[in-house]
Amino acid sequence: MDNPFVYGVAADNAHFIGREDEARRLMMNFSNGINTILISQRRLGKTSLVNNVIERMADNKNVRIIKMDAFACKDESDFYVMFATEIIRQISSKAESLIENAKRFLSSLVPKLSVEQSGDISFSLETTDKQYNADVLSLPERIAVEKGIRIVVCIDEFQQIGEFTDSLSFQKKLRSVWQHQHNTNYCLFGSKRHLLMNMFGKASYPFYKFGDIIFLEKIPVERWVEYIQRQFTNTGKSISSEICEAICSYVEGNSSYVQQLAWLLWARTDTAATESGLELAKQDLLQQNHILFLNYINNLSSFQIRAVQAIAEGHTTDLSTSNVIFDYRLSSTANVSRVKKALEEKEFVEITGKNVELSDPIFGRWVLRNLKTYI
Ligand SMILES: Nc1ncnc2c1ncn2[C@@H]1O[C@H](COP(=O)(O)OP(=O)(O)OP(=O)(O)O)[C@@H](O)[C@H]1O
Ligand SMILES: [Mg+2]
Repeated sequence: MDNPFVYGVAADNAHFIGREDEARRLMMNFSNGINTILISQRRLGKTSLVNNVIERMADNKNVRIIKMDAFACKDESDFYVMFATEIIRQISSKAESLIENAKRFLSSLVPKLSVEQSGDISFSLETTDKQYNADVLSLPERIAVEKGIRIVVCIDEFQQIGEFTDSLSFQKKLRSVWQHQHNTNYCLFGSKRHLLMNMFGKASYPFYKFGDIIFLEKIPVERWVEYIQRQFTNTGKSISSEICEAICSYVEGNSSYVQQLAWLLWARTDTAATESGLELAKQDLLQQNHILFLNYINNLSSFQIRAVQAIAEGHTTDLSTSNVIFDYRLSSTANVSRVKKALEEKEFVEITGKNVELSDPIFGRWVLRNLKTYI
């Protein structure tokens, strides 16, 4: 039997629920040449959604979707190699050999191209060579024109390019080439909301107004209730809708944690899920994340830890007031601003106007239980 719940990997098949509107909008954009930027809190389901759309559009002969992940790219040169390799690999049908396509579309790279024993290809590139770079960036467009199709390049963990040396001029280069491509468009997304918001939402950045920005929302509770009950029933167990709602509420609708807590409760259930089973499953969830959260804390200064504690204890809008500054020894309003900014940059908190929230709801719950011991 398959696991009734999944977390830690993208959700697919029977584990993928909801997202009808978002999938429709992505498919419209992909078919009509509109660039898309997908942003959400951590682990809400960006990768799962894009995978689902790619699968749903697999039979569309006019649109070819290519997916890559920039996570492992440390610099511009890695990016070009990944970009060229994934495009050549994914546009080559069984009938066309990788090497033929590589030679045809990347002739300037032929001396740098090698075929591995597995039959796969690999490139080596000199980032400084402008000709190679231009050839690589124009690759999807040249293929799209020749094949008379539209190509969509989806790049996960796109915020990674923000870490490259001289990232802004690289971003400028990408934007200036990509915006002139009429048969290729891009879907850019990643897990660092704050960095992506800067990259795409600030007028001073090259990718400003690059495309349709979609903010992924939480999956509605009714969908989760339906899903959790179905997964319990299919495995000979049962769960009330109230307990399903309690799962969603405890993890504040975070998709990954809903699946993880549902799984922990399922594992503790013989026939029918109970409230007391849920209490134990919540403890399991905190316990499973204990080491991870201790590591989080180790990466924070004592001011940052005390601010996290204040936020976890409900001071989401009044962090800069004199009472809170006094109670949590935060020094001054100027210091609170600095601390908030640093926590935002580390992706610990999300700031909307005056409101500051912890990005990870379970970290917040763990802080409430454990932090007093550590400060
Ligand atoms: N549509 C969905 N239906 C059911 N579960 C989902 C769905 N989307 C996400 N999940 C759950 O959330 C987890 C994280 O999903 P995914 O990796 O797609 O999120 P992400 O937003 O790409 O995460 P990250 O911010 O780490 O890149 C999955 O492992 C799964 O448990
Ligand atoms: Mg992801």
